[in-house]
Amino acid sequence: MITSKELRNKWISFYESKGHVNVGAVSLIGDGTTGVMFNVAGMQPLMPYLLGKPHPLGKRLCNVQGCVRTVDIESVGDSSHFTFFEMMGNWSLGDYFKKEKTAWSFELLTKEFGLDADKICSTVFAGNESAPRDDETANLLKGLGIRPEHIFYLDKSNNWWELEGTEGTPCGPDNEWFYPLTDKECGREHCDINCPCGRYVEIGNDVYMQYKKTGGGYVPLENKNVDTGFGLDRMLAFLNGLTDGYKTDLFSGAIACLEKASGKRYDDGGADRKAMRIIADHTRTTVMLIGDVNGILPSNTGAGYILRRLMRRAIRYCKALGVPSSAMRDVACVFIDEVYGEAYPLLPEKKEYILSEIARETERFEATLEKGMKEFEKTVAGIARKNEFMAKQNPAYLPETTIGGKAAFKLYDTYGFPLELTVEMAGERGLTVDEAGFAEAFKEHQEKSHAVAEGQFKGGLSDTGTATTRLHTATHLLNAALKAVLSPDVNQKGSNITPERLRFDFNLARPMTEEEIRKVEDLVNEKIKENIPVVYAEMPYDQARAEGIVGVFDSKYGDVVKTYSIGTFSREMCGGPHAGATGELGHFKIVKEQSSASGIRRIKAILE
Ligand code: ALA
Repeated sequence: MITSKELRNKWISFYESKGHVNVGAVSLIGDGTTGVMFNVAGMQPLMPYLLGKPHPLGKRLCNVQGCVRTVDIESVGDSSHFTFFEMMGNWSLGDYFKKEKTAWSFELLTKEFGLDADKICSTVFAGNESAPRDDETANLLKGLGIRPEHIFYLDKSNNWWELEGTEGTPCGPDNEWFYPLTDKECGREHCDINCPCGRYVEIGNDVYMQYKKTGGGYVPLENKNVDTGFGLDRMLAFLNGLTDGYKTDLFSGAIACLEKASGKRYDDGGADRKAMRIIADHTRTTVMLIGDVNGILPSNTGAGYILRRLMRRAIRYCKALGVPSSAMRDVACVFIDEVYGEAYPLLPEKKEYILSEIARETERFEATLEKGMKEFEKTVAGIARKNEFMAKQNPAYLPETTIGGKAAFKLYDTYGFPLELTVEMAGERGLTVDEAGFAEAFKEHQEKSHAVAEGQFKGGLSDTGTATTRLHTATHLLNAALKAVLSPDVNQKGSNITPERLRFDFNLARPMTEEEIRKVEDLVNEKIKENIPVVYAEMPYDQARAEGIVGVFDSKYGDVVKTYSIGTFSREMCGGPHAGATGELGHFKIVKEQSSASGIRRIKAILE
């Protein structure tokens, strides 16, 4: 039995013994430079150095880096997909190359982890017009004692590593390491690494990053780098002979907590086990994202929306498992106190904040979940009734299997159901959702809000919008005023609006002074007095960035973004709706300025 802590330490000490420096982990939240919302690979923060910039800590680096990948979120619930995982990595920045790297990976696997060299399999790049076949690695592997018949040449779709869709990034062929979970072949003709029975697991890979991806193809880099990634979660399961990643010490406490709360047994399998896995996985990612150094909060855009999706999906599965959604908080405590507190010291520090934000989102969603479920059931029943009626009229009638876009939008807009949640629920009933229709309804709604705002501006005819609309515009003014009074580096970290007040979280390492608070209030009120029109425009994302338009997170935005400008004072990417002009807002008052988490302040403000 090897524990997660032992594995983390083993990785670092092994590579330190080979002259590497542990560079530690960075924020999970992408900094916007790579076009990726979250950190999806250990190499991501090291990109400039892989492209040639000298790293202050040298040419041999290693770390254990948290990553968030949500592309496979629908697969979470099986035994091996996670939305958060840790990548154990090491790098050569133009230093050693294939000879040393193959030898060290082999040494680590056989000596440190005791794997049998006779059973190790490896795959190398088969070559194409961009890069030659990797005979060099194959020969080195054979020289180390890997059986020639255990070396496979595979094409780019398997043995080439690059960040998808991103140009200007380092990439190259890779060498993947495989090991059989059991010696027993499944009975197919070739029960090897390509066999669908899954007898072999991939335990990690060494990427030989010697190219840069450009619009015109792959350009060789001056430096020949190595980028290694071994997934800690998967490796931990594998080394302990487990096929279920939720059985490792990373998850056993969380699962035990859910078993206790539900009175159900994980090992009974079925829907309850799936629910436990989803709650555990999504809660872990929630803890990591809220508790991150650049922590985020659930919201309706960008990374915040992904977090909201995860949290609401977990809340729904709490219901399915028959536990109160407060169970999520108990599970979060297990992760913070028992599993990750030591490796991520910010988590215990931010514990209360993390728990209260989970409680807040839980309350928000629970307020509408029940009614939303009823609305969903009503929609499904409506489809069934229609099908039944039509089938009676016409036996050849093809039954309707799609939930309309408008109905999905109502679930989103009125009951806070992320579209993906509705899609998932529909899928459980053998139905699909008209997603294009949803997008259409979404757009229509925004145009209507926009038209209302325009109407107010042009003729001042319509009423002054709802309280929340005005508070939304006030939030934009506040964001700009904070930047003006405190520092341009102040950024929105979270926002929440109720009909009574706005709440705004932002990064600042100290409390604001009385004077700063007054200055911010005055500046917002000055802009309200100027009665500046709120102007809506759509433009290409790149143009918006070039014009310095503020976005909360860079990467969720599509090619064309919606923007709202209040003169030149505030320009933000935002879905709206907003007041027509600032004059409608009334008097702005900050009622509270308090700490929200380490390095994060929170303002509550009202319009009088
Ligand atoms: N960058 C490689 C990966 O993420 C090591 O698998």
